[in-house]
Amino acid sequence: MTELAIDLICHRGPDGKLVYHPGMLDSIFGKYKVGSILNAPQHSLTPQEWNEVIGKIQEASIQATGIPCIYGLDQNHGVTYTSGGTLLPQNISVAATFNPALAEEAASITAYETKASACPWTYSPTVDLVRVASWPRVWENFGEDPYLSGVMGAAQIRGFQGNDPNHIGKDKIATSVKHYMAYSAPFSGKDRTPAYVSEADLREKHFAPYKACIEAGALTVMVNSASINGIPTHINKRLLTGWLKDGLDWDGMIVTDWADINNLYTREKVAKDKKEAIKMAINAGIDMAMEPYQWDFCTLLKELVEEGEVPMERIDDATRRVLRLKYRLGLFDNPTPQLKDYPDFGSAKYADAARRTAVESMILLKNEGGILPLAKGTKILVTGPNANSMRTLNGGWTITWQGKLAPGELEEKNTIYEALAAKFGKENVNYVPGVTYNEDGKYGDENAPDFAPVAAAAKNADVVVVCIGENSYTETPGNLSDLNLSANQKELVRVAAASGKPVIMILNEGRARIISDVEPLAAAVVDILLPGSEGGDALAALLSGEENFSGRLPYTYPRDVNSLSTYDYKASEQVGTMAGAYDYNASITNQWPFGYGLSYTTFDYANLRADKSEFTDGDILTVSVDVTNTGNVKGKETVMLYSSDLVASRIVPDNRRLRAFDKIELAPGQTRTVTFKIPASDLAYVGHDGKWILEEGDFTIAVGGLILPLNCTVTKEYADNK
Ligand code: BGC
Repeated sequence: MTELAIDLICHRGPDGKLVYHPGMLDSIFGKYKVGSILNAPQHSLTPQEWNEVIGKIQEASIQATGIPCIYGLDQNHGVTYTSGGTLLPQNISVAATFNPALAEEAASITAYETKASACPWTYSPTVDLVRVASWPRVWENFGEDPYLSGVMGAAQIRGFQGNDPNHIGKDKIATSVKHYMAYSAPFSGKDRTPAYVSEADLREKHFAPYKACIEAGALTVMVNSASINGIPTHINKRLLTGWLKDGLDWDGMIVTDWADINNLYTREKVAKDKKEAIKMAINAGIDMAMEPYQWDFCTLLKELVEEGEVPMERIDDATRRVLRLKYRLGLFDNPTPQLKDYPDFGSAKYADAARRTAVESMILLKNEGGILPLAKGTKILVTGPNANSMRTLNGGWTITWQGKLAPGELEEKNTIYEALAAKFGKENVNYVPGVTYNEDGKYGDENAPDFAPVAAAAKNADVVVVCIGENSYTETPGNLSDLNLSANQKELVRVAAASGKPVIMILNEGRARIISDVEPLAAAVVDILLPGSEGGDALAALLSGEENFSGRLPYTYPRDVNSLSTYDYKASEQVGTMAGAYDYNASITNQWPFGYGLSYTTFDYANLRADKSEFTDGDILTVSVDVTNTGNVKGKETVMLYSSDLVASRIVPDNRRLRAFDKIELAPGQTRTVTFKIPASDLAYVGHDGKWILEEGDFTIAVGGLILPLNCTVTKEYADNK
């Protein structure tokens, strides 16, 4: 039930070799019978090194107890911690593709390369709903919508684990869905701080992607470090044992997040000491403690059992869950997979999959006068702190925790500038940064700007491609207090615009930074989010028109710091102007809405229809719409179906909810009928009493701007696990 960090076992010495700490393997496995090890020693290892380290660990573990150890790594967008492997787009970019097949493929590649590294378990996927724009972990997730997050999360479970969770195959690994749950809704916007979430939102929204992942076979779950409505999640028996284990009849394993049992007394102050913290967490349903540096968890837990404070049945249950996981992974038969059996590690075909996903993830937000695509031979000035950086394309969890790269790392991959130079010709592409990050400082630190050379170089260019956003960060070090893009970077946009040349604004950021005051200065805006190592090439292909844009915003892009909302805001937040003397208005203002994204072609929607206009709870609604490519080039379109419940008596209704989507490709002039099957029970909601209900009354279905009225003729309450 104990998990320790690799730093206890070895570190990388000054000569670059791994140095093993004498006696540690004996203490950890021989004396304390520790069941799991995690993490990389500060920096990624080669697959050969992983084979060696995990091989030694398995040998020591099996010799001491006859039980293999389970090793876990954050392989979050490809193999974070294995050098030479594939680095795919981060989850926020995967969500922007609205293409679950790509999510599955990405996870499948990561599983293969993780297994090539002899590691059987990853702390992915992350399916926390992005409900607070400033939260520094926005980019690790699939956006703000419960349905999209569930579809993408479940696709990744299949990609990582395969289709039989009882027998994880040779190329597959176990997942840990995280961070259960509402971690992403901190009131302060800062990482690991309290969330206050209504019972209805918890059940209907935050729980939804976890449920989808468990139903897809997820083998383990990691817990939210912080608290929900005042209760630290690590001691919340109702959520851990009640909703997850009993409610979903789930026999998987729950692991804490980093040091989170210790945090119960050091930070959350709900326990007076470590022993009390262990008692609270284990009795609530925790099965494994990510300690990560001390083994007194073992002795304290043993004492608690001897004193009758933790029932032996709870220990039996937890250890059964851990052992079941190890059996499911086949660790008893094959504790250390061999690299030679994984010839596709780091292959060109995987890099190509990463590039294809990056292409589908980039979002065209503005294209005035069709300035994009850029013609061959266009003279381009590339500027901005993100223009020539592999670190910013990849974001955090890249080779190191914070994504900071050593000089020369990932040099073989193309930055935006390098990719544009390759695509448009070196002679046509000039790079002058203007603003640079201080790579040795905090993620937001910038060096003194140098605008004059940018203004001068713009004179010789046809367009200025301004690459702005954020440097990489992960978790708490990424906290911020102002969602605005940095002052230097906004000034850079102004300097570029003052040249009179069209400005193409490229946003490369982990969360939506506010740009409303400089956005009007740009002729085109592309949000590339965090597209990974192939992102530079993907963007160059899109800007040249070789590929077409099809990414859509997975979250609402805010316009103003104090006007934040999600697309499913309550009906009462957008009511227009009041009549009479008090003629104020309540309105939602955003830069761009959830689901927004342009293309080089246009699509027309017609004939939205359903097989019935009245329905009851047991019905499945068949809804169809005809979509036509009305432009001149082929393109992919994500057809989204939203529902609205016009009156909901047990809670103020959401203005609308995404219920289904389908991404299709159409040639110019081509029409396709897209059909969705929506179970009527999907239109139910959770009331203030925490219960699911479908109520009789009027609904609308909206697809591509068309609206269809429907009527529900019954009221039906559902059991908990609808
Ligand atoms: C993070 C988790 C991660 C764990 C192990 C924690 O700090 O919150 O997402 O899986 O560390 O590295």
